[in-house]
Amino acid sequence: MKAAVVSEVKGAFEVLEIAIDNPAPQEVLIDVRASGLCHSDLHVASNDVGFPMPAVLGHEISGVVAALGSAVTGLAVGDHVVTSPVHSCGACSSCRAGRPYQCRVPSHTNRAPGTAPRLSLDGRALTQFIGVGGFAEQVLVHQNTVVPVPREIPFDKAALLGCGVVTGAGAAINTARIRPGDTVVVIGAGGVGLNVIQGARLAGASRIIAVDLQPAKLELATVFGATDVINGGDSDAVAEVLRLTGGGVTHAFEVIGLKRTTEQAVAMLEVGGTAYLIGVHQPGSTIDITPFGDLMGKQKGIRGVAMGSSNIAIDIPMYANLYLQGRFKLDELVSSHIGLDGIEQGYQSLRSGAVARSVITSF
Ligand SMILES: NC(=O)c1ccc[n+]([C@@H]2O[C@H](COP(=O)([O-])OP(=O)(O)OC[C@H]3O[C@@H](n4cnc5c(N)ncnc54)[C@H](O)[C@@H]3O)[C@@H](O)[C@H]2O)c1
Ligand SMILES: [Zn+2]
Ligand SMILES: [Zn+2]
Repeated sequence: MKAAVVSEVKGAFEVLEIAIDNPAPQEVLIDVRASGLCHSDLHVASNDVGFPMPAVLGHEISGVVAALGSAVTGLAVGDHVVTSPVHSCGACSSCRAGRPYQCRVPSHTNRAPGTAPRLSLDGRALTQFIGVGGFAEQVLVHQNTVVPVPREIPFDKAALLGCGVVTGAGAAINTARIRPGDTVVVIGAGGVGLNVIQGARLAGASRIIAVDLQPAKLELATVFGATDVINGGDSDAVAEVLRLTGGGVTHAFEVIGLKRTTEQAVAMLEVGGTAYLIGVHQPGSTIDITPFGDLMGKQKGIRGVAMGSSNIAIDIPMYANLYLQGRFKLDELVSSHIGLDGIEQGYQSLRSGAVARSVITSF
């Protein structure tokens, strides 16, 4: 099958013919119909985070089940599905307590070391990014990462449910547990941040302030439910948030991965507020927070969030159904449709902040 392979850090996405194995007992082979370009793939492609190359990146896909391993239950060939990079074993104490996003042994969904690789090129193993490897005609994944979705939802919209939607809306709904009347700031209104905004809208936040550098993103933020927008390039975003809210917000979400905006998120909080760190930072980077003044004095909290604290088996069908009812926006997230050979161009647009999501729909 065809896949976009990255051979080294900062290397190009090269479309090559690679081999994909048959499903092991717990695995599902999926014909990919749509694959979203999340910023996390770009982080791994352009920074040395210790991720083993060569690799097939991409982790936000929808498609049709092509074949099932002998032990797979609850899925049939022909089902429309989404995969998500929330890896869970289903059996550890966190999984049994309903928190698969905190699974103790997420590696359970990998193939055992020493067995044949799922993907290979000329006999050499290729790594699947977050166990998916979605920039390809097919993916071979563990059944615990696969969720069926209604056939009515178009593939390009469904793909975004797997990462951008569960990460963003989940952070607002599951992690922050926003209550009606709470106030919210979202710094970075990209593919993930726009979903934090619409999660906050669904949860009933009274004020949702979006901060970005791109006027087009701020416009889109309003469509997703922002009540106020701030261009962080033109103004002192912290002072502006404190002014708009009369002293700070209940919840501040950082959805970029920068030191400065993370510190801003903490500074924007009211007494007792919490900052949620969603953006991926460079490995080894640090932030400066004053324990005395910020954390103790103002009783603020800082919380790192992975995948929106999502239970994908429940949350993905929920967002899909809300979309089909017209109560959740996915159409507006898709900025452009591209081919498998258009990834470089797609990431160029993402870097410039010009698009919410580019989605690969031709392979
Ligand atoms: N924690 C998780 O589970 C998880 C999951 C998915 C993605 N992520 C991370 O979330 C972040 C966002 O991902 P995305 O796909 O939405 O990226 P994106 O590129 O679509 O969005 C980033 C947005 O931030 C804006 N921005 C950049 N610098 C800014 C600044 N200084 N001030 C204000 N706005 C600024 C950009 O204009 C853009 O709109 C990335 O770091 C990604 O790796 C984390
Ligand atoms: Zn992602
Ligand atoms: Zn587990």
